[in-house]
Amino acid sequence: MSNIGSYDKRYGNFDWKISADELEYGKDGMYNIAYYCSDRIVEKGFGGRMAMIWESFKGEIRRFTYDDIRVYSNTFAAFLKDTGIERGDRVCIFMDRIPELYISFLGILKLGAITQPLFSAFGEEALFTRLEDAGTKAILTTRKHAGKVRRIKDRLPALKHVIVVDGDALSLKPGEIAFNMEKAVRFDSFDIDRAGPEVPSVLHYTSGTTGQPKGAMHVHSSLLAQYLTAKWVLDITPDDIYWCTADPGWVTGTSYGIIGPWSCGVTQAVLDSGFSTQKWYQFIEKHRVTVWYSAPTAIRLLMKDGNAVVEQHDLSCLRHLISVGEPLNAEAVVWSEQTFGKPFHDSYWQTETGAIVITNYPGMKIKPGSMGKAFPGIIATVVDQRTFQPITTPGTVGLIALKPGWPSMFRAYWGNEEMYRSKFRNGWYICGDRSSIDAEGYFWFVGRDDDVINTAGHLVGPFEIESALLEHEAVAESAAVGKPDPVNMEVVKAFVALKPGYEPDADMELSIMNFIRKKLSPLAMPQEIEFVDSLPKTRSGKIMRRLLRAKEWGQEIGDVSTLEND
Ligand code: WT7
Repeated sequence: MSNIGSYDKRYGNFDWKISADELEYGKDGMYNIAYYCSDRIVEKGFGGRMAMIWESFKGEIRRFTYDDIRVYSNTFAAFLKDTGIERGDRVCIFMDRIPELYISFLGILKLGAITQPLFSAFGEEALFTRLEDAGTKAILTTRKHAGKVRRIKDRLPALKHVIVVDGDALSLKPGEIAFNMEKAVRFDSFDIDRAGPEVPSVLHYTSGTTGQPKGAMHVHSSLLAQYLTAKWVLDITPDDIYWCTADPGWVTGTSYGIIGPWSCGVTQAVLDSGFSTQKWYQFIEKHRVTVWYSAPTAIRLLMKDGNAVVEQHDLSCLRHLISVGEPLNAEAVVWSEQTFGKPFHDSYWQTETGAIVITNYPGMKIKPGSMGKAFPGIIATVVDQRTFQPITTPGTVGLIALKPGWPSMFRAYWGNEEMYRSKFRNGWYICGDRSSIDAEGYFWFVGRDDDVINTAGHLVGPFEIESALLEHEAVAESAAVGKPDPVNMEVVKAFVALKPGYEPDADMELSIMNFIRKKLSPLAMPQEIEFVDSLPKTRSGKIMRRLLRAKEWGQEIGDVSTLEND
């Protein structure tokens, strides 16, 4: 089975009402995402269908039906309500990819509270910044990660509740609560918050060039876009076994690791384990994965490990492959076609867009190396970087711009109205990426328009890294840029100028690395530190990261005089 339909017809006749009608969105005043991801599937008669087949890194397997996730998410919601969580409160989920992560996500939404998922590998400073910014009231975590919360809790006056989902009396510290989803009294029903379509739902932090990470806030009606893109782009049908390799700490792991697939009523397979070629192929084979949503860095790693290992597995179950997060190189598309008999379909979107906006629509001709075309209902173009007028000449590079108004567009950066408004110019939302569009309407990604580093599909803001470096006693100035890497596309490189009296030697490098390791997430850790006497700056004193970056990429540095006037 498949949902494939003509791209041109669908684009031409599109109305988001298609999605609302299929979901019966808003019936009896119900707009809550969590209802559409659990109760509704059960009401349609599929309560016994598997919602999640979960496998741990040790190979332990747990299964949950749609009725299980309905009841357990009710149980979470009832417990949180009892704890004093109310509509609009921010509740952080800080755990590995265990079932409780996925199910509490729905529980928080059922209560009308806002979920704030954060990547469990974040260090305490990365965690602190995001909890402080959001004024987070409660955090759900596990024993494994509770230590990081304990060390910052005193600095977070808004944080009232630390809930340990695998905790017991012995492991808890004063002020912490243990809650075990499976041992708690089951709530077969829960009065789901009739959150209106514009009530906040999910808060995801994302990095920019300046300042700390910003919280992109989404609302419940984002479901209309997440549901239909999951159905039409990921081509999910109820018969599929779907695997999204992303962690819900990032938007791919919520929009397409929870909301999209579960609103479609599909069985999803979840692997709580890092990358390993063997393990990944085994996982696909064992669970008969049919639809696979992954990322270019992983695909490049699989390519590197070659085809002999592919041949040891029966991967004939794979029906549809999609990729996101970074440029998908043409070779990867051709390789997957040769190796799996299916090409990876690139998809482009952002934390801010909430759902796929440009993609190689299933059934449409794929041009390897291109991101494809705008999803139906999305008006996308490239605009001139000065006038913000659409560029009409095919092949000319401009800034990717979207007409505001699609359901999953972010509604705010948490507490940062000015930054939010700065993203809209001349009636367009400006994504911050550069691309060209060819004569057939296909987008060809060129690069980011800011200094953000995309390492293995994860955005890392230079500000966070530089702030951490500057706290080291010997560091006078610093700049973080992306340098090329064959697998991760980019890795972080730091340039550091030391204060007088300090020696730029290997001991110093080690001392700085050890110092910042405690503050940064592993993704943001520089692979290399280069000591310099001073950093290139504009006349107004801004560090010219673009110059440092161009050097790393062996590019022409260009006209520096204009940079100096920035
Ligand atoms: C940025 C958004 C989309 C969910 C995961 C990332 C880059 C994303 C592609 C692609 C080239 C891509 C862009 C974008 N990006 N998809 N198919 N080709 N670049 O969400 O963390 O908000 O990152 O990732 O630079 O702006 P995010």
